[in-house]
Amino acid sequence: MVNQDKSSYDLFKVINNRRSIRKFTEKPITDDILNQILEAGIKAPFAAQLYSIVYTRDKEKMKKLRIGVYSTTQLLMIFLVDFRKIEKIIKQRNYQYDYDDGMLLWLGIQDATLVAENVILAADAVGLGSVLLGGAPLQTDIITEVFSIPSRVFPVVGLCLGYPDYTAETDVRPRYPLKYTAFEDSYHDLSENEIRECMKNMDEGYITQGYYIKLQAKIPLKKGKDTIDYDKYSWSEHQSRKYSQGWWKKESILSLLQRQGFNLEKSHNQEETKMKRVPTN
Ligand SMILES: Cc1cc2nc3c(=O)[nH]c(=O)nc-3n(C[C@H](O)[C@H](O)[C@H](O)COP(=O)(O)O)c2cc1C
Repeated sequence: MVNQDKSSYDLFKVINNRRSIRKFTEKPITDDILNQILEAGIKAPFAAQLYSIVYTRDKEKMKKLRIGVYSTTQLLMIFLVDFRKIEKIIKQRNYQYDYDDGMLLWLGIQDATLVAENVILAADAVGLGSVLLGGAPLQTDIITEVFSIPSRVFPVVGLCLGYPDYTAETDVRPRYPLKYTAFEDSYHDLSENEIRECMKNMDEGYITQGYYIKLQAKIPLKKGKDTIDYDKYSWSEHQSRKYSQGWWKKESILSLLQRQGFNLEKSHNQEETKMKRVPTN
């Protein structure tokens, strides 16, 4: 490791010990702490600062959102893709926005997610815990109403925050072995045996930790008898049930985005624009 001073050591400690926290104490988050973690959040790299954050301490508001906010959450943040600011800047400079909305959305999701990760790590470093909520985009209608969010702004992910209640589950989760995730020079398509090794790593880790038992989070089978008890209910079983049982929302993300003013259809039949070089951010 190149930089071994104390601050970088602390960063690795924070990263390596972080785990999602789903139960919080009643200790409130002060404005100073909140500002500290938000300031750290916005230090993340950005393509064009295509994000905003809305947050609330109001439990009634949290409940209304229907995105699975944990009941002891002290503060809820929603990270948003936000086109409005850059569009206003462009206008102030007497230009007219003309860019591929799909690509800008892609960049915006990356911007917002990087800010979220910085907030998560900063929160951890000051003793807070957090858990992301990925269902936020599906509740765009409610979120936009509750937080008065206009068009060209779209929820990416939610984040529950609070001081960890360590009486609840708190283990660091396993991951796939790094060799099956990072490949030098060329992509490696995993063999059946290698996939089994990934599954083993995850499944044994989650079962040993009693992850799903503690969360009581088994996904029911739509068809057939469930013969897997909690002591054998594993991470790969959970993922398989989640992504194989025909779960579709009435309205697609694409349609929600379109209703929120994002134009993701190819909007004009023009030739691909030739740029002299790829513009830097
Ligand atoms: C995009 C995203 C969405 C997530 N959504 C949820 C969620 O809705 N509810 C939840 O309890 N955890 C959610 N999580 C947390 C994951 O379950 C958790 O990060 C994962 O199991 C790894 O555990 P760890 O964070 O403790 O390392 C989400 C995580 C990510 C990255």
